Amino acid sequence: MPAQFPFVNTLPYISNPIEEFYDFKFVSWERDIYPKFKGGIRLDEVEYFSNFVVENNLRRIIDFGVGGGVELSGMIECLDKKNYELENVEANETDEEFIKQSRNLFLSKKQTVAIHKANWLDLPQAWPPYDHLFDFGILTGNSLTYIGGGSRDYTKKAQQSIVTKFAQLIDHGGYLFIDSRNYDYIHSLMNLNKEKVFENFSFNYTVYYEGFQHKIFVFPAYISETVVVLHYYDIEEKKWSKLDLYPIYEDDMLDILSKDFIVEEIMYDFNKGNKEKSLFVQYLARRI
Ligand SMILES: C[S@@+](CC[C@H](N)C(=O)[O-])C[C@H]1O[C@@H](n2cnc3c(N)ncnc32)[C@H](O)[C@@H]1O
Repeated sequence: MPAQFPFVNTLPYISNPIEEFYDFKFVSWERDIYPKFKGGIRLDEVEYFSNFVVENNLRRIIDFGVGGGVELSGMIECLDKKNYELENVEANETDEEFIKQSRNLFLSKKQTVAIHKANWLDLPQAWPPYDHLFDFGILTGNSLTYIGGGSRDYTKKAQQSIVTKFAQLIDHGGYLFIDSRNYDYIHSLMNLNKEKVFENFSFNYTVYYEGFQHKIFVFPAYISETVVVLHYYDIEEKKWSKLDLYPIYEDDMLDILSKDFIVEEIMYDFNKGNKEKSLFVQYLARRI
């Protein structure tokens, strides 16, 4: 084999930790990794959302994947400080652990948020049922990427059907804010060995996840066009977990959104530039 094309086999990392951490205990991502990885909120990120809400006079907010509730709770707090009145704030969640975490957070902050339990696949059915539309939907922190399958085309179709379900809950003229990791960048690391991937997957900042790289080490340990396995290592506590994710490429996401929305803005880690290398890509889209 020519030296410039070394065969790199990272297949074992689909389900095993890397060699350095072979004795780490596998734990629940939602319960044991996420709270430490998530940390608190970044004020400028929450302010981005609350300023957008105020500027566009939005009153009915839904978080489609509320997780631990940190973002949504921060937004409510920020809007409260501006004396901005919302009609209602609601959340969708399918995972029991996340329902528990977010409910406790809203309770501790005395915030009223109805949490609907639903798998996106079943929307608009949920418990309790949805009984009105929203004018601002958010899905943050790389969530749509949980949906997908064995080919890029299948993933695109499956994600499309979920975005259309979100659209059914958003009023015409309302907005959807949705993001994903920058899978175009991750894809560019595909043929590197794990040391090189780790080296390239380094950033001197973070978005959304305050524990990134200083509390929890994260990197794409297995990369193919159709599946990316992100590894999460808690070095201090010798624990690890992983997520199997279906990449969302920017071109596909634009097609997906354009069925029900007009994409008004694309950002890379909340900035306009640096398309080639960023942690996240954010899309702001208006419901047709
Ligand atoms: C990476 S977490 C992000 C959580 C939160 N938005 C944040 O940024 O911290 C992904 C979220 O998507 C939700 N999710 C994934 N697949 C789902 C599905 N099929 N139906 C409903 N929610 C789903 C998870 O339960 C979780 O809340």
